[in-house]
Amino acid sequence: MRTTVGIIGAGPAGLLLARLLHNAGIDSVVLESRDRAYVERRQRAGILEQGTVDVLREAGAGERMDREGLRHDGIELRFDRRRHRVDFPALTGGRSVMVYAQTEVCKDLIALQLKEGGPLLFEAEALAVEGAETDRPRIRFRHQGAEDVLECDYVVGCDGFWGVARAAVPDGRTFERTYPFGWLGILADVAPSHDELVYARHDRGFALLSMRSPSVSRLYLQVPADTDADDWSDERIWDELERRFETDDDWTLRRGPLTQKSVTPMRSYVHEPMRHGRLFLAGDAAHIVPPTGAKGLNLAVGDVVTLARALVHRTATGSDELIDAYSATCLRRVWQAERFSYDMTTLLHTAPDATPFENRLQVARLERITSSRAAETDLAEAYTGFPIG
Ligand code: FAD
Ligand code: DHB
Repeated sequence: MRTTVGIIGAGPAGLLLARLLHNAGIDSVVLESRDRAYVERRQRAGILEQGTVDVLREAGAGERMDREGLRHDGIELRFDRRRHRVDFPALTGGRSVMVYAQTEVCKDLIALQLKEGGPLLFEAEALAVEGAETDRPRIRFRHQGAEDVLECDYVVGCDGFWGVARAAVPDGRTFERTYPFGWLGILADVAPSHDELVYARHDRGFALLSMRSPSVSRLYLQVPADTDADDWSDERIWDELERRFETDDDWTLRRGPLTQKSVTPMRSYVHEPMRHGRLFLAGDAAHIVPPTGAKGLNLAVGDVVTLARALVHRTATGSDELIDAYSATCLRRVWQAERFSYDMTTLLHTAPDATPFENRLQVARLERITSSRAAETDLAEAYTGFPIG
């Protein structure tokens, strides 16, 4: 098999890249190791930055998002039993975010790809990328029990943190931090208890109230990194959420039947560079952020927009200028998201070895954000998203 751009992975990065290339008349093949149902059900991110929303619309993939997604103009910070709303449009000149789940973004992009785009092969596992430094890179893969080779002009590793593409970038440097806690995430059939997201700092640990629709709540609890989700009964989860969200006013948490429950580890990770010859890394294949700032999916979108532009520029002009700038261009934005995600994580989570001094500092940082327009604007600008490219 032969194509112009071989894409490994049908997560948000791989699917959107295929769509952007298709719209520009560049052919691609997407190889995905899992089946379609698995990719469409994997519960992950829920917040789209303004820039991501704009990109999906421009790519012709925003129709259902505009119908079913929930525009959010702010978040609530909760600490010391107090509540503070951060008003995004007022602080950023009109920017907001959209609550529209990663599962739905993937469903929309898969449907478009199968209808209009190039081949998208499920249960096709990439085994290795070969010849990245030549002008004929190849992906060895296994599909329906047989090994095959995809010959390409360019290969893009959109295969997530555990993929194979990164291994084909020699002499890379990695920067990493793991955290001694994770998130226990639940999905519950109950109307969200608040109409915007609530990020809560509590001495017992962080809690986040989010949503998937007007009738489905998504909630997260900080738990120790080695937590087994089965150790948490539904009642224990609701009791703990209630404690961490408690306020001095009459706010109450609505409870409902759980439909999903799982633990996500937290990690910061960057691999530099994001390119070797004709192999590019995009999204989680190159970098991971802890989820507190809701940046993971949005970073993946920024990478593939930058890469699509570079490949289109190369096709139109023959110039490698943007391709050569790809890694550095993406990494500038990646490191801003790493910084913000780290700041949000350390602002809101209780480290197991935190001293009383550090706990007080967290509250002081929160009080600074809620009392200084400059500090609050800094948060709002980062949360609604850094410019792409
Ligand atoms: P992925 O979505 O990981 O997609 C990679 C794809 O490649 C997968 O479909 C995988 O099956 C496929 N693949 C892997 N190896 C191969 C191979 N060898 N051959 C073929 N295909 C392969 N972000 C947030 O903002 N908020 C959240 O709440 C949040 N929760 C998360 C929970 C979990 C458990 C994880 C893992 C991530 C979470 N993230 C969250 C991060 C966000 O979901 C990711 O940043 C986003 O999915 C990145 O998209 P991607 O396309 O780069 O990678
Ligand atoms: C969600 C996840 C996040 O990491 C976040 O910061 C906000 C919302 C979510 O899954 O809804």
